[in-house]
Amino acid sequence: MLGKLVLIAAIAFGVALKLGFIPDVLTGLSSNHDHSPLDRDLQPRESVDADGVVREKDAGTTGGEFKFEEDGDIENDDYAQSSIYAILYAMYKNTPNLVSPLGIKYQFTFNTWGIAPSPYPVEDPQRHGKAAYAALVTQPPAVEYAEKLGKPLEIMEIGCGTAAGANLITREVWPTSKYLALDMQQAAINTCNMIHATPDNPGLTCQLVPNGVGNDGNKAPREDSSVDFVVISETHIADIAIGDLEKAIFKEIRRVLKPGGLFLWGNAIPTRVWEEADVALPEIGFELVNSFNHTKGAVIARDEDYDRVEAVMDQLLAPYPVMKLPYFGERCHKVGERLIANFYRHPGTALYLKMVTGYDSYMHQAWKNVK
Ligand SMILES: C[S@@+](CC[C@H](N)C(=O)[O-])C[C@H]1O[C@@H](n2cnc3c(N)ncnc32)[C@H](O)[C@@H]1O
Ligand SMILES: *[C@@H]1O[C@H](CO)[C@@H](O)[C@H](O)[C@H]1NC(C)=O
Repeated sequence: MLGKLVLIAAIAFGVALKLGFIPDVLTGLSSNHDHSPLDRDLQPRESVDADGVVREKDAGTTGGEFKFEEDGDIENDDYAQSSIYAILYAMYKNTPNLVSPLGIKYQFTFNTWGIAPSPYPVEDPQRHGKAAYAALVTQPPAVEYAEKLGKPLEIMEIGCGTAAGANLITREVWPTSKYLALDMQQAAINTCNMIHATPDNPGLTCQLVPNGVGNDGNKAPREDSSVDFVVISETHIADIAIGDLEKAIFKEIRRVLKPGGLFLWGNAIPTRVWEEADVALPEIGFELVNSFNHTKGAVIARDEDYDRVEAVMDQLLAPYPVMKLPYFGERCHKVGERLIANFYRHPGTALYLKMVTGYDSYMHQAWKNVK
């Protein structure tokens, strides 16, 4: 029953988008829409059964079963990620004036869970995402590398989203760096060009990689051995296993890195996948030079961010007329809310619980290219 309602609401949401209730969202979707019609993508795959229980493919490796309605567990494979990102980024773009519970107006552009403690002030609604990016690119080997280099860093990021983190780095953390921020979502790149990669921030360039780096043999748009740091932060890479896509991405990272260059990787993924990476990365010429376990801080970040995310869910969904339709509206709202809550690892969602139990680990690592 619940599963059906969710399905109906998801389809209604998709149909509303298609019918043009939400024209900006449609524009945002254009880069993916050819390959994956939204109404199909928003339908749960066969792993969601009739009562809404998400049956994961291999219950032994997933850390438990979760009910979508209660926990909002939407794994990588259950929904087409690209459509969800397209919706989220279009929502961010359509809602430039969010108001935090502390009354601060802001446009949310991070798509991160982030970490605590944050060196940024409590009033900053994006302080946990900022903390995550700042800590990731100032891991001790990165600072040492930058000091030794003695010239501007060349940085490339895969999965930059709106490039909120890249913006922080080019403006404040490594302000002389040349930073190429890549994503597969046109809406995110548009936001980057509109508010982050502006003339007063000349180090930052955002670029679309249609379908993403590593997919279908896609390359990163950089020469061999030309980059000091490759950054990946909270991108859905390796969230199930180190598979073919991950290996293709790692190969691209190694190709573009200078000898001795660093792959700076931060994410909350299953602890066992970090263990897989510990084997896979050395096999292709990487050496682990730093590793820090931020899991506890990532849980605290979600707790500290609770009120803001609750407010965001209402404010992001409010502009959509479909939410006001009788019957569908309420259900659309619920689906929208669960989508957003899940993506923020909001307290109570399955992804939050997985960090609490240590099934997922939020790590920051630095891998050196030792070719
Ligand atoms: C959870 S978001 C995080 C965005 C950003 N790193 C942040 O922290 O705000 C993940 C992003 O990775 C992008 N992405 C995933 N796989 C990618 C790939 N293979 N190539 C480029 N971008 C990718 C998605 O489009 C999405 O924007
Ligand atoms: C990280 O720390 C958590 C405890 O907060 C632990 O459960 C987990 O196993 C650790 N992960 C790794 C990869 O060491």
